[in-house]
Amino acid sequence: MPRNDLALVNAAFLDQVSPLLDSREVNEMKRWRRHFTVTCYEHSLFVSYVAFRIARRMGWDCRAAARAGLLHDLYLYDPADRTAHPGSQCLDHPVAALRNARELCPDLDSKEANAILTHMWPLAVHMPRSREAIAVNLADKLCAILEVACIYRTRRVQRWLPQPC
Ligand SMILES: [Fe+2]
Ligand SMILES: [Fe+2]
Repeated sequence: MPRNDLALVNAAFLDQVSPLLDSREVNEMKRWRRHFTVTCYEHSLFVSYVAFRIARRMGWDCRAAARAGLLHDLYLYDPADRTAHPGSQCLDHPVAALRNARELCPDLDSKEANAILTHMWPLAVHMPRSREAIAVNLADKLCAILEVACIYRTRRVQRWLPQPC
C-alpha cells in the first residue's frame, strides 16, 4: 500500500479509538506484560489495528472491531498473581475484560461485548457470534504469534502500525 494511503487508513483507525486511547484504563494496560517485552497495551493496540484492517477489507463494522480489539484484554491485573482472579487465566480474563470494558464504555454494543468475551475461542467455551468477533479472534492469534516470534518489534511492522500521539 502506498505510504499516503497507509497514512489515511491509520488516521481513520485512530479516529475510531482515540477517545479510548486517552482513557486511564486503557493506559493502565502499559503496566502489564503480555508476550515477552510486549505490554498488554501494545498487544491490544496491535490486535485493534489488525481487527480494524480485517473488518475494513471485508466491509464489516470497522469501529466495533477496533474498539473490541483494543478492549479485549482490559483485565487490569497481574496474571501471575493467583489472588487476582479465581480460576484459569484463559477463562477468567475475557470476563474481567468485558466487565471493565462495560464500565469504561456504557455504549458498548452486543457485537463488541461478544468479541471481547469470545476472543480466546476455541480454548474458551464462548463462540464468536458476529463477523467483528471473528476479526478480533483472528487478529488476537495472529498478533500473539508475531509477538512471540519477535516479529512485532521489527522496523517493517513498527512502520506499518499507527503511532498514537
Ligand atoms: Fe486475551
Ligand atoms: Fe490478546
